[in-house]
Amino acid sequence: MPIPDSFLSDLRDRADVESLISSYVTLKRRGKTLTGLCPFHSEKTPSFTVYPDSNSFYCFGCGAGGDVITFVRRVENLDYVEAVKSLAQRYGLNMPEDGYDDTLSKKRGRLMAANREAAGFFHHTLMSEHGKPALDYLLGRGLSMATVKRFGLGYAPNDWSGLLEHMRQKGYSQSELLEANLVRKSSKSERETYYDNFRNRVMVPIIDPRGNVIAFGGRVLDDSKPKYINTSDTLIYKKSQGVFALNFAKNDIKDGRLILAEGYMDVIALHQAGFLNAVAGLGTALTREQTRLLSRYADEVVLAYDSDEAGQAAAQKAIGLFGEIGVKVRVLKFEGGKDPDEIIRKYGAERFQRLIDGAANDTEYKLLNERGKYDLTTDDGKVSFMRAAIAVLASLDSAVERDIYASRLSDEVSVGKDAILIQVNELRSKRRKQQERERSRFTAKSLPGFGEGLNPEKKRNLRAAAAEEKLLSNLLNNPGFYPKLADKVKAENFVTELNRRIYEVLEKRLSENRGVELEFLSGSFSPEEMGAVNKLLVSGSAFGKAASQGLANQGSLEECIDCINIMFKEKLKKEKVSPSEMSDEEFLRRIRDKNLL
Ligand code: CTP
Ligand code: MN
Repeated sequence: MPIPDSFLSDLRDRADVESLISSYVTLKRRGKTLTGLCPFHSEKTPSFTVYPDSNSFYCFGCGAGGDVITFVRRVENLDYVEAVKSLAQRYGLNMPEDGYDDTLSKKRGRLMAANREAAGFFHHTLMSEHGKPALDYLLGRGLSMATVKRFGLGYAPNDWSGLLEHMRQKGYSQSELLEANLVRKSSKSERETYYDNFRNRVMVPIIDPRGNVIAFGGRVLDDSKPKYINTSDTLIYKKSQGVFALNFAKNDIKDGRLILAEGYMDVIALHQAGFLNAVAGLGTALTREQTRLLSRYADEVVLAYDSDEAGQAAAQKAIGLFGEIGVKVRVLKFEGGKDPDEIIRKYGAERFQRLIDGAANDTEYKLLNERGKYDLTTDDGKVSFMRAAIAVLASLDSAVERDIYASRLSDEVSVGKDAILIQVNELRSKRRKQQERERSRFTAKSLPGFGEGLNPEKKRNLRAAAAEEKLLSNLLNNPGFYPKLADKVKAENFVTELNRRIYEVLEKRLSENRGVELEFLSGSFSPEEMGAVNKLLVSGSAFGKAASQGLANQGSLEECIDCINIMFKEKLKKEKVSPSEMSDEEFLRRIRDKNLL
């Protein structure tokens, strides 16, 4: 059952797109619209546009778009009903009690409850006699009881069904436990058997910023492999989007700064040592989703990656990713230990704090790195270093910073500062031009997965699809046209599947005299499809202007009829109906098309 229109109208009135999106993206006003850097793909020049008039957004770079509900679905990774609920809460609206389909959100609730129950079980086991080896292991690593409790650490017993039996008693079904990845299924024997996923491991619960237990990492007590077993992706957990300990760190961010380490144990050791703003990824290479999430809480990230080669390579990559979204980075370099946990255990918290205070910022780190590659006692080496250094300086957006580093570089290579700055500026303008070229190419084509990918028949039916889209665009912008078109076009006249579905939804609503604002449509489409729907809406909103300037018949009823004729003709062509098989009416229509075109 869909959510009632009356509620969605209230939501539309209250949840204004500008205020909502401003809390995620820095927006700049440009006349009637606002623009910013797209939160759904990586870009340096803004193609993400917010339309207060239609309470919608659209990215010309990646095709993401839609209403406020679609925005929340995407940015918070929620399903439709959850997104509506979250908006209702945010804007103080009472959500109708029932009458909508919330099976998915109920299921997610069950999985979260199961994880919480499991975390309690693991913790309880750790504190029991069975847990002694695990507790000894943790205390032996220097953790205090207070830390063990604060992080809710646990122990998964050395047994195939300890958790399974406990959870069955608490009323969770095998299939729920399987979906939560707490148990696994074996089909070796004839009968399906279920068994615990985590056995004889120290358990680290992963808690999201809202306080839900969403997954676990389980570490062995010795050197056996694999060192960690982690919850795989489930309905409530995406490894590539999660950040460990953000639930704690978000409340202890000082001077806009977070510390990002590689491992669970590093973060736990850091918190125990008083660095309450430490977090970690979850064992995958850092992703854009994670950097974006962190950028919501911090302006600066201190990278506390392992000192080995892999850790340093990961740091380089992280610098790039944070740079893309304007988060400052400092990089720690450890000596005498491989990771924060070791450094703190060996040398104490003060030493770690000194490392942070003295850490190179990203520019210094990059320059140091480049300098290490060349022999500055030779002219060749100097020139190569200078070239690399100029590339680093050119990527700085602040003129003051460029000036400072140009001075330093000038001292290092004994070349005048002005000469360096001239080269830096040349490179900047070259890059800008290149970026603009790329951007216009990008805008014209859009990313794969949008547009063509969503409506695969479009490629083979360009003409029909263009007519369909113009018609839909007109209907979205001028729902008042519908009564005059209703008997001229039917869903079956559409050649391409997505456009047909959009028409079906519009037709159903319009024939019942209901609105077609995006908030009423977003329950019928995926977030990706909503991008296509809003593209239709915003591309058409320029029509009014064209018409007022006397340009063609854009945005008029006549244009809609032209579109219907084209669709009709294209459909016939596709079905290869010969004129002799056509009804008189069809035949006449076809002749008329010929004149029209
Ligand atoms: N990791 C993983 N699976 C592995 C190894 C590592 O998921 N087999 C992830 C874990 O999230 C781990 C992080 O990568 O925390 C960093 O790995 P590592 O430095 O080896 O782990 P530590 O947390 O430092 O563990 P320890 O100090 O106990 O060796
Ligand atoms: Mn470690």
